[in-house]
Amino acid sequence: MRTVFWDYETDEFKMIDQRRLPGVFELSTYQDHKLVAQAITDMVVRGAPAIGAAAGFGLALAANESSAVKFSELRADLETACVVLKAARPTAVNLAWALDRIMREVAEFEGSPVELRQSVLESAQRIADEDVEINKRMAEHGATLIEDGDTVIHHCNTGSLATVDWGTALGVIHTAWEQGKKFHVLVDETRPRLQGARLTAWELDQYGIPYDIISDNMAGYFLSTGAAQKCFVGSDRTAANGDVANKIGTYMLALAAHDNGIPFYPVVPTSTIDMSLADGSLIPIEERDPAEVLELQFQGEQVAPVEATARNIAFDVTPNRLVTAIVTENGIVHPPFEENLKKVVESYSLKA
Ligand code: MRU
Repeated sequence: MRTVFWDYETDEFKMIDQRRLPGVFELSTYQDHKLVAQAITDMVVRGAPAIGAAAGFGLALAANESSAVKFSELRADLETACVVLKAARPTAVNLAWALDRIMREVAEFEGSPVELRQSVLESAQRIADEDVEINKRMAEHGATLIEDGDTVIHHCNTGSLATVDWGTALGVIHTAWEQGKKFHVLVDETRPRLQGARLTAWELDQYGIPYDIISDNMAGYFLSTGAAQKCFVGSDRTAANGDVANKIGTYMLALAAHDNGIPFYPVVPTSTIDMSLADGSLIPIEERDPAEVLELQFQGEQVAPVEATARNIAFDVTPNRLVTAIVTENGIVHPPFEENLKKVVESYSLKA
């Protein structure tokens, strides 16, 4: 089942509620784009490509919600909805990328408001369908990097749940496994929201891929003792120079990998590459509610003192010097990233 999808029987948008996994598998249903924006903020859906696809379907809901009879009014309502949806989370560029792509198609559209509503849904559906196809292509490229006997470290959740289906870094791991390669995965638990321990472990269980969950601070041990040979991560936004913003903790993993001569591979669809930003210092970094850090329980009790304060930075930026190569759907990109990323993104825009 896809993580996010339009139900054509009921004309509603549906998503797997990722806050409740792995304990409860439940679908949430949406008819209102503002509730989709809230669901993105609350991480009912998370992961850069999944957020982008959800925003696209949110815009299709906004088109249905609008009572505009004139084309210009409907377009204005869609622009207002874009502002609401774009504000849901700041770091993953796929959110703005999907909405901007649909609005470019809206700007070129000729027809009635009724036809435009249908066209917005078709555009959102195309983004979702392409995401699956792109992930599969990316996974074929990335799987060439995994060898029999490897132990690979994976951070956060980058699987089917983080995308429409299949996944980015976890998609690479899944494809390599389906090709018959035998390897082991160390799953960073990924504090504070535990996307690794909850979601990646749940996905690996379903694929039958052997893994162990490790707390994030154990990665350095495995890398420095030769017990892990490769790192695979996703990205929420990659700058034009190959600096990679991803889930908090990715930078420390990359540092430890670099210090031990271990290859570090972000798996990044071109929709996540933001060529408008020269380097990673320009990427907006989300800071979330400190409660997500503070409310951790141990043996049934909150760990932190009741009066404690916390910071909750959701992403960090790994500088390009720590990145071995970036896996995209158009091939594996090696340094110098300033030159070579441009080539894969341009070949994507020509195709699209
Ligand atoms: O806060 P999240 O769970 O949305 O963060 C997700 C990640 O950091 C993923 O690694 C990223 O979106 C790329 S994988 C599709």
